[in-house]
Amino acid sequence: METRPRILTGDRPTGKLHLGHFVGSLQNRVKLQDRYECFFIIADLHTLTTRPEKDAIGTIATNAREMVLDYLAAGIDPERSTVYLQSAVPEIYELNLLFEMLVTVPRLQRLPSLKDMARSANLNEMPFGLLGYPILQSGDILLPRANLVPVGKDNEAHVELTREIARRFNYLYGEVFPVPEALIGDVPTLVGTDGKAKMSKSLNNTIYLSDDRKTVEKKVRGMYTDPNRVRADIPGTVEGNPVFVYHDVFNTRREEVRDLQERYRSGSVGDVEVKELLATALNEFLDPIRERREAFSSQKGLVDRIIYEGTLRVREEARATLAEVRKAMGLGGVWNSIRRKAEKTVKAGGV
Ligand code: TRP
Repeated sequence: METRPRILTGDRPTGKLHLGHFVGSLQNRVKLQDRYECFFIIADLHTLTTRPEKDAIGTIATNAREMVLDYLAAGIDPERSTVYLQSAVPEIYELNLLFEMLVTVPRLQRLPSLKDMARSANLNEMPFGLLGYPILQSGDILLPRANLVPVGKDNEAHVELTREIARRFNYLYGEVFPVPEALIGDVPTLVGTDGKAKMSKSLNNTIYLSDDRKTVEKKVRGMYTDPNRVRADIPGTVEGNPVFVYHDVFNTRREEVRDLQERYRSGSVGDVEVKELLATALNEFLDPIRERREAFSSQKGLVDRIIYEGTLRVREEARATLAEVRKAMGLGGVWNSIRRKAEKTVKAGGV
């Protein structure tokens, strides 16, 4: 019997994962996979909240495969972790509906994340399903009865809502769910290459885990830095400057970083040099990830097999949780009483 506490987290399969995903959540997943039993959800139902069209659904399988390759490349061990497809687990839809009864509309309307998502999807009115996005996420988290949820800062409020749902459920029906904790990454929100607050695919300011060396060099050359610094001898600002933020996070040569910061502040280093050294550091950071990605992607069929087996595994888990949920709520009792009576009547040759 497995006794480690559980982690559940995951991502929407919208494309490849980037450095922001890595420092926000992936790194924690890799670090904790020995101490926790890990479940990683490919949250494809969540993509429907803003993109329900058939052509969008048609991109899910490819995106999911790429994303799982990124997981493996980042160091997630498929032998120890369970990776699965949300839409293939019917109990998630079921739990979602039951949890909807435990949350008020104003509580959801107060979440800034949902308005942001509606805006970036160019929706001028809030779809019902998007308002329910965090409830569905609570279903994901509570289905395997997770204890810890490693996520980026942007998902913290959703974990808070999950805690409220777990408490409310337990209060109304009896102790079924643990109250999970969020675990925010070392860098809660990584700045984009353009200096915008958040690295995000939709803002086109990302460096992907799967970018090759040349692409990284090119993206770094084009990065936003201190805009006041039109010449190398003008003192520059290090704080909040994305080039220096990345140096801080990814460059393991601390001495080099300190030296660059000093020379930047005093106006004795050019942006070109700072960026070249950053590209080198990033490529060193990404090299082992690229190597693992190569090694895993050359094993044909591996990723599909991992998702397939993980999904079967979670379906078992899901059946057990929902049986407990129905029992706690007394929903099973309603059906059982009707079923028993009907069977008796049939047996007795009645109506
Ligand atoms: N909301 C997450 C995102 O921003 C994806 C997600 C769906 C998730 N279900 C989850 C994250 C459960 C953590 C736990 O993409």
